[in-house]
Amino acid sequence: MIPRRPEPELMLEPEQARAYAEADFATPHEGFVDAFAEAFPGRVTGPVLDLGCGPGDVSLRFAARYPDCEVDGLDGATAMLAAGEALMAGHPAAGRVHLGEGCLPADRGPRAPYATIISNSLLHHLHDPATLWQAIVRDGAPGAAVFVMDLRRPDSTDAVQALVAEYAADAPDVLRRDFEHSLHAAFTPDEVRDQLTAAGLAGFTVTVSSDRHMTIAGRLQESL
Ligand SMILES: C[S@@+](CC[C@H](N)C(=O)[O-])C[C@H]1O[C@@H](n2cnc3c(N)ncnc32)[C@H](O)[C@@H]1O
Repeated sequence: MIPRRPEPELMLEPEQARAYAEADFATPHEGFVDAFAEAFPGRVTGPVLDLGCGPGDVSLRFAARYPDCEVDGLDGATAMLAAGEALMAGHPAAGRVHLGEGCLPADRGPRAPYATIISNSLLHHLHDPATLWQAIVRDGAPGAAVFVMDLRRPDSTDAVQALVAEYAADAPDVLRRDFEHSLHAAFTPDEVRDQLTAAGLAGFTVTVSSDRHMTIAGRLQESL
C-alpha cells in the first residue's frame, strides 16, 4: 500500500475551480444521490448540510431529487463557490440551495443542528480527517442521517496511473493533476473505519462502491 500524501485542503486557484465546475461529474454525483436513497429510503425534508460543497453540483442534484428539502452548502474556497454560479443559474432547484463560505473546523452550517448531512469528496482534502467526523457530530441533530462519499487510495502508483488514464485521459491538465493528487491523498476503507471508531461513530457502515469510491453511511445517536 502506498503511503497517504496529503494535498492542499482548499481549492483556491480560479483555474482549478473553473475546470472542476465545468467537468462532467454526472455519473458519480447522480450515483451519490442514488446511494443516499438506497441507504436512507423515504422522503428528506427540511434543511440539509452539504460539507465541502464546492461549486454545488451535488447540492443541486440532491435538492432536485428531494423537493421538500433545502440544501445549505459550506465551502472554504471562494473560487469554488464562484465557479458554481454558472451551475446555479437557471437550475430548477437553485432556489432551495444556499451555498456559503465557511471553513471547517471553525465554521458551521447556518441552521445547525441538521437532520441530514451529506459530503462528497471533502474527506481526502482534510489534513486531519477527524475534522469531518467532529463537524458531523457537532452539527448533526440526534438521529441525523449522515452520508459521505470519497475516493479510496489505490494500492500502488501504477493503480493510481491506471485510474487517471481511465477517467481523466481527456480532462484538462489541471483536472488530471488534481485527480492524481486526490487519489494519493485519499484514505483506505480500513483507515476510515479507524477514524469512525475514534469519533464515536463505529456504527457507521463503510462500503466500497466503485473502483475508486467508498461510501460511509449511518445515523447519529438519538438523544437519551
Ligand atoms: C473535491 S472538492 C468537492 C466539491 C463537491 N463536494 C463536489 O462533490 O463537487 C472538495 C472541496 O472541499 C473544500 N474544502 C477542503 N477543505 C475544507 C475545509 N477545511 N472547510 C471547508 N471546505 C473545505 C474545497 O475547497 C473543495 O471545494
